Amino acid sequence: MAEKALIEKQIHGLREQVAAWKQAGLRIGLVPTMGAIHAGHLALVERARAHGCKVGGKVGNKVVASVFVNPKQFGPNEDFAAYPRQLDTDARLLSEAGCDLIYAPQTNSIYPPGFATTVAVSGLTDVLCGASRPGHFAGVTTIVAKLFNQCQPDFAVFGEKDYQQLLVIRQMVRDLDMPVEILAHPIIREPDGLALSSRNTYLSDEQRQTAPRLYATLEEMAAALRAGQAPQAVFAQARKALQQAGFRIDYLELRDPETLQDRLTDAPRLQQPARIFAAAFLGATRLIDNLAVSPASPS
Ligand code: PAJ
Repeated sequence: MAEKALIEKQIHGLREQVAAWKQAGLRIGLVPTMGAIHAGHLALVERARAHGCKVGGKVGNKVVASVFVNPKQFGPNEDFAAYPRQLDTDARLLSEAGCDLIYAPQTNSIYPPGFATTVAVSGLTDVLCGASRPGHFAGVTTIVAKLFNQCQPDFAVFGEKDYQQLLVIRQMVRDLDMPVEILAHPIIREPDGLALSSRNTYLSDEQRQTAPRLYATLEEMAAALRAGQAPQAVFAQARKALQQAGFRIDYLELRDPETLQDRLTDAPRLQQPARIFAAAFLGATRLIDNLAVSPASPS
């Protein structure tokens, strides 16, 4: 059986443990989460476990996962209150995946009365989820900056499920000279293609049956673009197909994978590698997904 991870609720306990590990020459990997742990989160923990392993299989690192439902990244009409909270189950799953310490702070220790600082990245946050969820990314970068300062990890792992979040965090780390290496992990999916998400539990049985259509549509779009079909037509058809399947589209866009500049032009075919980004509602549940697309290589 896996050794049980330590659970720390206080910053000083976290700092003492991290300092002891660093003293012993170990590298610290952080996996920030909001809990409701699923296989997508666990893949990040495994990636952190494997990163920096010394030659000969000797593990040279320790993995910290944070579990904190961050109120600052939820809008007033979003699901902060409903967000699943299950620390005991989370702790068991994270331990089994090889996590050494779970940092699960209380809200009032993260944001004590008088808390007055925001860390915000501009530009990248103007589009996609940043446009749909005002203030969301400032909430994310503020908590991630705090977690980096509290834990002082050597590296941290983020999922491409939240691809824009990953870019925003990379930008913050670069701009503020944070000494943390950022690793990205590909999206983990259900066998039917639905990207794993803590919010999937909100779906009714019927919605759960429809949900994989989101990724299926992205795959169909990528195939059509690769086959040389006109991007505008591909997007128009995909919008129609998603609406017919029962989705209310928040956005469906083609953007540059680094700058997030709009790449949906009137050009007859895709010119350069890009990424499709989608956010769509099934009932009140908002699903997001994304997929890399590239033009057909010239034959
Ligand atoms: P949360 O939604 O819990 O996700 C935590 C991490 O798991 C993020 O890096 C996210 O991209 C990754 N993740 C979620 N589902 C995934 C999947 N299906 N495949 C791969 N990775 C996946 O993202 C957040 O929390 C918060 O914004 C946080 C960064 C913790 C700040 O509060």
